Amino acid sequence: MPAALPLPCRRQRLALTALALAMPLLAPTAAQAGEIEVLHWWTSGGEAKAAQALKASLQAKGHQWKDFAVAGGGGDAAMTVLKSRVVSGNAPAAAQIKGPSLQDWAREGVLAPVDDVAKAEQWDALLPKAVSDIMKYKGSYIAVPVNVHRVNWLWANTEVLKKAGAKLPGTWDEFFTAAEALKKAGVVPLAHGGQPWQDFTTFEAVALGVGGAEFYRKALVQLDPAALKGPTMDKVLATFKRLKPYTDKNAAGRDWNLATAMVIKGEAGMQIMGDWAKGEFVAAGKQPGKDFACAPAPDTAKAFTFNVDSFAMFKLKNEAGVKAQKDLASAILSPAFQETFSLNKGSIPVRLNLPMDKFDACARQSSADFVATAKAGTLVPSIAHGMAVPAAAEGAIKDVVSQFWNTDAMTPAQAMDRLVAAAKAR
Ligand code: BGC
Repeated sequence: MPAALPLPCRRQRLALTALALAMPLLAPTAAQAGEIEVLHWWTSGGEAKAAQALKASLQAKGHQWKDFAVAGGGGDAAMTVLKSRVVSGNAPAAAQIKGPSLQDWAREGVLAPVDDVAKAEQWDALLPKAVSDIMKYKGSYIAVPVNVHRVNWLWANTEVLKKAGAKLPGTWDEFFTAAEALKKAGVVPLAHGGQPWQDFTTFEAVALGVGGAEFYRKALVQLDPAALKGPTMDKVLATFKRLKPYTDKNAAGRDWNLATAMVIKGEAGMQIMGDWAKGEFVAAGKQPGKDFACAPAPDTAKAFTFNVDSFAMFKLKNEAGVKAQKDLASAILSPAFQETFSLNKGSIPVRLNLPMDKFDACARQSSADFVATAKAGTLVPSIAHGMAVPAAAEGAIKDVVSQFWNTDAMTPAQAMDRLVAAAKAR
């Protein structure tokens, strides 16, 4: 967790280490027998339906769910609340934690491994290795993966595109042509919410499309200074900035699901967002292929930015709580839950080889592309969603990208210098 802590990290880290040592004494008292408190940030329409499926599967095993939802897309607010709860000795029983920050939490000694469930149910054989590696700390499972989200998606209102005479774009050139047509038709071409994680979700789609997977990996995963500051990044930043005039004046601070709602209602034509956006369309009764369309973000059809949701369990003292944690871990990977959850969430199951017949064409494409891109070496982690870069560097590069987006006078050259400096943040 140290890398995930905002400043002043050191003091908080010491407090946390002391807490980890004292954990058996300070284990959560709020959780009663068979009741577990679960922290997550699934509060939008589609997300809440998916969270409800998780709650139901715990209750089906005779346990009680204490909801600890912290609103805020992307989970930044939830992670801040989680840190303060753990530091004050009041950890929830389970929390939605993702990517490399799982390692940071495990290092602090506050997580309870779920190895016995994982061994009994053969998770190694059920999961793609790229996913199980993220869930393990020193060879032990410290988290259970829920689903796979594809982040590099573009969503569009089919009726609005049609009325504007615009075509669903497959390339960035086509995107700008469609955006112009939508603008002329009097709708907002690109629905956007000006929050750092949403700015970065758009930015990483542009980086992948304009630069390709190898560039993406060098610049945004390996944080190679030569890739962060070079002609390809220059082009990426310039293209990214070209999108801004196609967003509306009220974008600043807007939540992602309200941006999706603009597309649903026909106020906007398109949105670049991970497939949790599909959960909103579906929750609003809209059908893919009819009311709305999905396409890989421009020029990224042969690549896939992945984002895996996962839950980690915090050490508990009471046996009933521990039993409930294990039952929750087991329920999450059951075939029935995997299907119901992802149908609501917009994602695809993380468990391998499950039938996809109940899923729509967007999900089936995602599932096929997940496998194909893994083989082709173009499956890359989403930076916007905490899947690759240490938290301090991730936060710093997100800030630079948002500053660039919001500051008309900032040039790509200035942004690149700042990106190189931000990548060194520890
Ligand atoms: C999570 C999704 C969530 C989205 C918006 C992402 O980081 O992985 O599960 O729906 O944020 O809140």
